[in-house]
Amino acid sequence: MSAVVISGKELAAKKREEMKQEVADLTAIGKQPGLAVILIGDNPASRSYVKAKQKACEEIGLHSVLIELPEDTTEAELLQQIGALNEDNSIHGILVQLPLPNHISEQAVIEKISPDKDVDGFHPISIGKMMIGEETFLPCTPFGIVEMIKSKQIPIVGKHVVVVGRSNIVGKPVGQLLLNEHATVTYCHSKTENMKEITKQADILVVAVGRANFIGAEFIKDGAVVIDVGVNRLDTGKLVGDVKYDEAKEVSSYITPVPGGVGPMTITMLLHNTIESVKRMKV
Ligand code: GUN
Repeated sequence: MSAVVISGKELAAKKREEMKQEVADLTAIGKQPGLAVILIGDNPASRSYVKAKQKACEEIGLHSVLIELPEDTTEAELLQQIGALNEDNSIHGILVQLPLPNHISEQAVIEKISPDKDVDGFHPISIGKMMIGEETFLPCTPFGIVEMIKSKQIPIVGKHVVVVGRSNIVGKPVGQLLLNEHATVTYCHSKTENMKEITKQADILVVAVGRANFIGAEFIKDGAVVIDVGVNRLDTGKLVGDVKYDEAKEVSSYITPVPGGVGPMTITMLLHNTIESVKRMKV
């Protein structure tokens, strides 16, 4: 078997085309969506993610503001900056690129962002609402993954989803979203015993561990759907996922590539959330 490739790039392009019109319509009535991105320090990966987000905003006509702060910015300065953006009526979404320098509390920063502008979906209020299935901003990578699975009409109800990884940004919430879609969800992580026996049971296997080529064909049930969230740069400069793509493709029914898989969908759902934010605002 050779799997069908779920192209995040293609799905993202389609969704962004639709969003362009929506943004134009909102702009015409004086409600141009605005996204503020705060980047602290010089992490090259963060810089390239932020650049991609800005480019995507420009392409669909979103107002975007990049605030670059030096590595030695204090927590108080950052919180003050976020406070000002919370009050800024031209800004509907605020994103602070993670990770942050060690001297700044990530949680304090996340909690300072108004839940009304939390387009990352990381605020405890957003996470709590997601858990009980209330309408809220959904975290972008997990949201994009669910959209990719649905785009191929892959059944989720009653299926066994195994998530490898338990980060607050991807692993935990993607399991929760798929549980909300009535999947049976199992989490594996660095302390899991007999991981292979568990992943082998997955109808849908989501891998988000951040380790290049961690999952080979021996971890995958024949015909499973494989979602690879990893983006790892090898010493050769090549970008690879957490899954050994060439061999996984031979045993799975659907697979996401790296690059061109989950990554473009993450940014697309950020745009979606920012547009939603405008629509939810009373004024
Ligand atoms: N760093 C890696 N992924 C993300 C993300 O989705 N949002 C933010 N704010 N930082 C990140």
